[in-house]
Amino acid sequence: MGHSGLAVCKYGGSVLRSDDDFALVVHDLYRRVRRGQRVVAVVSALAGTTDRLLNRARFDGVEQDPHAVAGLVETGEVESVAMLRLALDRVGVPSEALDVGAISLRSVGEPLNATPIDVDLKRIHRVLEEKCVLVIPGFVGRDQGDRPTLFGRGGSDLTALFLAGQLGADHCRLIKDVDGLYERDPARPGPAPRRYDTMRWDDVLHLDGSIVQHKAVRFAREQVISFDVGELLTEGGTRVGPGSSEYASPRWPNRPLRIVLLGFGTVGQGVYRFAERLSDRLVVVRIATRDLEKAERAGAATSLLTDDVFDAVASNCDVVVEAIGGLDPARAAIESALHMGRHVVTANKAVVARYGPELHRAAERGKAKLRYSAAVGGGTPILEAVQRIAGESSIESIRAVLNGTTNVVLDCVSEGKSVDTAIREAKAAGFAEADPHDDLNGLDAAHKLTLLWHAWTGRWSVPACVDCAGASLERLTVLQSDSHEHEVIRQVAQLRRDGDVIHARVRLERLQPEDPLAGIRREQNAAVIRTIDGDSHVVRGRGAGRFPTAEAVVADLLDCADDVPDPVESMEFSVARPSIVPAQAVTC
Ligand code: HSE
Repeated sequence: MGHSGLAVCKYGGSVLRSDDDFALVVHDLYRRVRRGQRVVAVVSALAGTTDRLLNRARFDGVEQDPHAVAGLVETGEVESVAMLRLALDRVGVPSEALDVGAISLRSVGEPLNATPIDVDLKRIHRVLEEKCVLVIPGFVGRDQGDRPTLFGRGGSDLTALFLAGQLGADHCRLIKDVDGLYERDPARPGPAPRRYDTMRWDDVLHLDGSIVQHKAVRFAREQVISFDVGELLTEGGTRVGPGSSEYASPRWPNRPLRIVLLGFGTVGQGVYRFAERLSDRLVVVRIATRDLEKAERAGAATSLLTDDVFDAVASNCDVVVEAIGGLDPARAAIESALHMGRHVVTANKAVVARYGPELHRAAERGKAKLRYSAAVGGGTPILEAVQRIAGESSIESIRAVLNGTTNVVLDCVSEGKSVDTAIREAKAAGFAEADPHDDLNGLDAAHKLTLLWHAWTGRWSVPACVDCAGASLERLTVLQSDSHEHEVIRQVAQLRRDGDVIHARVRLERLQPEDPLAGIRREQNAAVIRTIDGDSHVVRGRGAGRFPTAEAVVADLLDCADDVPDPVESMEFSVARPSIVPAQAVTC
């Protein structure tokens, strides 16, 4: 069905130190969702919250009702659930949050050290049919009388393992502030301890129980559940299960990816903001922008700024993020970066649609990668879904709403506002193209269709033949004249296979309310991908705006980081390509 499995991921207090960390959890979840996973995200309270709440629940000399204590303490987890839902919504990841009452997470035993025994699996599956992520509070349950219970300190681990077992999840990952389990605490002074690659459940029980809750490990052993322990934004770590305990081979820590930003508008600023919070992985080393003062006012560090795009491309970096938009100088900058062996990440559909073959050739020559997930659907991973589904089955058609500005205009017009007012609104929100006519006449969606066509078939050829004749706003008047009240008008972009011929068109269409594209509003985008077997896959999300677009760019950057060699390899690399390696590394 175009999904790559169900994962249960637990985000513990050690990775939730402040409200800013919810954005990091979203980056981790987004990367999973765009690989096609459905995720149950189990969250703990922010670090320190449980202790604070336990202290608040104590009154001198009074024996407290443990359910009343649990009722106060669980508010820490409930708050995290709500914060994560909001952070997911900001970038447009379709998600739902349910409390333990809603999923009937039943427990038995001591109220403050209870054990989960049952859960409403149907409710969870129903949500996951519609949404990519379900957020659930860890650590808490309900007893037979519906009273709040806690699963003991570290009990979110137990929630995650219990749900993974009940759901038959494909993966269960406990995400902490360490990259796996070590023979000793790596934070303590002394020689560096060895990290385990794999560990038997029994051996984990010899480690400090504050790392993984021992009760949860015993539960996993009894239920034969394997799981991973690792950090955010990686897949590595320690696999815990029935096998033997083996140490991992030592490896160099990855250095942060050095990024040059071209453009400091809606997308550039979003990427910069996210990169600031990911400083151990991403570091912006240069920003090229036309208006230096405006960029400073928007928060860019003065020392990074230049108004020379090509000077920025030539600086010492691993990746160039092209967020200028348009064809010139974007095309030349991208080609130049790729020739120099820098990876390129762009949200620029126009340049990739127009010069896709040339840019891919430049990437091959420079042994670099060109990534452009954000170019179609912003934070909606439509390109990835099409590629994945095309790899599993034969696609028959793609119908999609791919332009947020047009949605805004159509909605405003139906409310009686003028087109000019609507365009101003779309511009202010950062959705509209430099020339909003490109949104309204179907050109923007046509570019996106070209990229979808490439994701579907691996070929570039459609741009000249996308039929946009029916996209013009004049047609709106015709459609409005005989449409029924319940019908919705949307700009629909379509690719359809008819034997050996592919028809590509963008046009305004009247949609019945039950059409999955009818409910798509404002910057939301959606695609319905049909296969010849009759399956229909729907992908939804936010298709424009700062944070959704920056989310997709950051996911591409983190993929680039996985490709960057470790420091030893990069020293060897430096001899061949001195221009992109720090002088210090060359002298080594
Ligand atoms: N102008 C585009 C839109 C931006 O309105 O959807 C995202 O590609």
